[in-house]
Amino acid sequence: MIVCRTIAELRAARARLPSPVGFVPTMGYLHDGHLALVRRCRAENAATVVSIFVNPTQFDRQDDFAGYPRDVPRDMGLLDEEGVNIVFVPSAEEMYPPGFKTIVRVREITDVLEGAHRPGHFDGVATVVTKLFNIVMPDRAYFGQKDAQQVVVVKRLVADLNIPIELRVVPTVREPDGLAMSSRNVRLSPEGRRVAPILYRALSEAQAAWRSGRERDAEALRRLVRARVGQEPRIRLEYVSVAHRETLQELNGEVTDGLLSLAAWIDDVRLIDNVILEEEP
Ligand code: PAJ
Repeated sequence: MIVCRTIAELRAARARLPSPVGFVPTMGYLHDGHLALVRRCRAENAATVVSIFVNPTQFDRQDDFAGYPRDVPRDMGLLDEEGVNIVFVPSAEEMYPPGFKTIVRVREITDVLEGAHRPGHFDGVATVVTKLFNIVMPDRAYFGQKDAQQVVVVKRLVADLNIPIELRVVPTVREPDGLAMSSRNVRLSPEGRRVAPILYRALSEAQAAWRSGRERDAEALRRLVRARVGQEPRIRLEYVSVAHRETLQELNGEVTDGLLSLAAWIDDVRLIDNVILEEEP
């Protein structure tokens, strides 16, 4: 595995890879969710590039950036075992040198859900993803359904800017008790970790109610999730949403297809999760 710390090193190593090249952007502290993306990428491409970069511009809170877990040596070991060809680990100065002025902004679909609660977050994501795409120039890029809005935003960005990269979306990988894997889970207290699976349980119950036809009304589905999570006083829900899968606009009335998502605080950790309201695949 080649480790590149500068853009020049990455470009030189990238030029020698066989095609097609797959790319998995990450912020590191890798878990089985990230590794599912890497494995899919490995299986579908002749070479795999992974980036590890805790992107400062997508954090709306300084404490979240400072407290974001990091362990690059461990990550490198995991990626090496997975057979990754190149890992790109740039510094903040390499990505944002003095004089940096450009922001990539995707409008409207970034004003809701995560975007509404994390000002500037998707400007940071869209900008860094565009830079990483231009640096790595992969044929395909892999993203997790765990970050549902990020997938919608990156798809829009790639289409709007005619970026010649095929996006592939990988289902959310969960702990045995249902909790969506996240680098932030390690920051939960033991008690917080114990109650956290109720988030996915609430989403799954609402999804089951929708699938069985017992409940198809958007507001009633949001209410079901709020009521279930409300049983756990340690959890503070930030939002529960039933939205259109592409426009991300909140739905009302009967739902025929949608994205059911939430954000919640447990202790001082903010978690997100989602399920898709669609017939069983
Ligand atoms: P990060 O949170 O490290 O996630 C990297 C990728 O792993 C994202 O596509 C994310 O959706 C996916 N992922 C995380 N947890 C997952 C899980 N439990 N199951 C499946 N996939 C999961 O997302 C980012 O980094 C950044 O915003 C980034 C795209 C790298 C830009 O900085």
